[in-house]
Amino acid sequence: MKQVMATIIKPLPDHLFRVHGNSAEMRWEAMSGVGYHTPTDRFFVRNHTVTPLIDVTTWRLRIHGAGVRCPRDFGYEELRAMPSRTFDVAIECAGNGRRFYRTQQHDGAPGTQWGLGAIGVARWRGVPLKYLLKQVGVSPSAVDVLPTGLDEPFEDYGHVRRPLPLDKAMDDVLVAYEMNGEPLPPDHGFPVRLVVPGWVGIASIKWLGDIEISTKKLLTPWNRVFYPDVTTQPVKSAFELAWNARLPVTGPHILRGRSWSGRGRIVRVEVSFDGGLSWRQAEHHGQHLVSAWLPWHIAWAPRHTGARVLMARATDETGVTQPLTTPRNPFGYHFDAVVQHPIHVVNG
Ligand code: MTE
Repeated sequence: MKQVMATIIKPLPDHLFRVHGNSAEMRWEAMSGVGYHTPTDRFFVRNHTVTPLIDVTTWRLRIHGAGVRCPRDFGYEELRAMPSRTFDVAIECAGNGRRFYRTQQHDGAPGTQWGLGAIGVARWRGVPLKYLLKQVGVSPSAVDVLPTGLDEPFEDYGHVRRPLPLDKAMDDVLVAYEMNGEPLPPDHGFPVRLVVPGWVGIASIKWLGDIEISTKKLLTPWNRVFYPDVTTQPVKSAFELAWNARLPVTGPHILRGRSWSGRGRIVRVEVSFDGGLSWRQAEHHGQHLVSAWLPWHIAWAPRHTGARVLMARATDETGVTQPLTTPRNPFGYHFDAVVQHPIHVVNG
């Protein structure tokens, strides 16, 4: 077991996580043989500062601003008593895969050097944000919705906050208080967080304390300095395998993975065992949800031992297929190229 970091409360054992400063990335082999959802004990954590411990007996969610007719606040039990919805939704950091700008494209970007493990799919339960907005009466001149977290201010930028356009806020956003059937754990936003389907993880503000509805476009460091112009997540794929996994030559093996896209369903997944010269279609199984991921598998019988590279590429319902390279991005966001996953075929 790795030491428990002060900034994250849950244990971060070495076989489930790679720790990056304040944040922790899931190891993809931790999803092998696991069901559709990412168990909470291995769900990645991305913290700007430190997980706060919030006293729910005094906590209130305040909804106010020039775009609201009757500003008011809500307590935890009050929210839990409201009509709820349950969604299976992925949360993924915009920088997921950033490491591959450097390792695959030799053009690295600063920031957390995530592999592909800054994503998880959980079953979230909560109150639709639009239901709360109807309670406070949104005026016709309302434009933006600004959720703010109660964690410590980040450097000189203040509390973590990022505006959402009103039409997204009124669409499918959840004010979630449950994750995988349990109250949200502290690291994932207790007592409540936003869950913004299909959008970059930063939209899903944790430890929610305040929502401002404005009548003009809002700028905060989180849509101006960091994460400018990023909204929906691109299409990506990962194998449920360790980096440099060792597979016995005595096959065949059933290789498993998952593909996802913030723009909609995955319609096709192909795998290459020869560095992209030829591709075979993987079989889909299990659930096929819009804002989550599609599990797939493919049989493979390696013929000789040695180092190999596995590649998976998915196509989403908008017709976009993962490219072989991603255009340079100064922040290292949205690495959607096919990842070259090294393995070793060994004598069984
Ligand atoms: N909300 C607050 N208040 N503070 C944060 O540091 N990090 C954001 C988002 N919400 C963050 C936040 C980022 S960048 C991501 S990717 C997701 O939370 C990560 O959610 P998770 O830690 O539950 O996986």
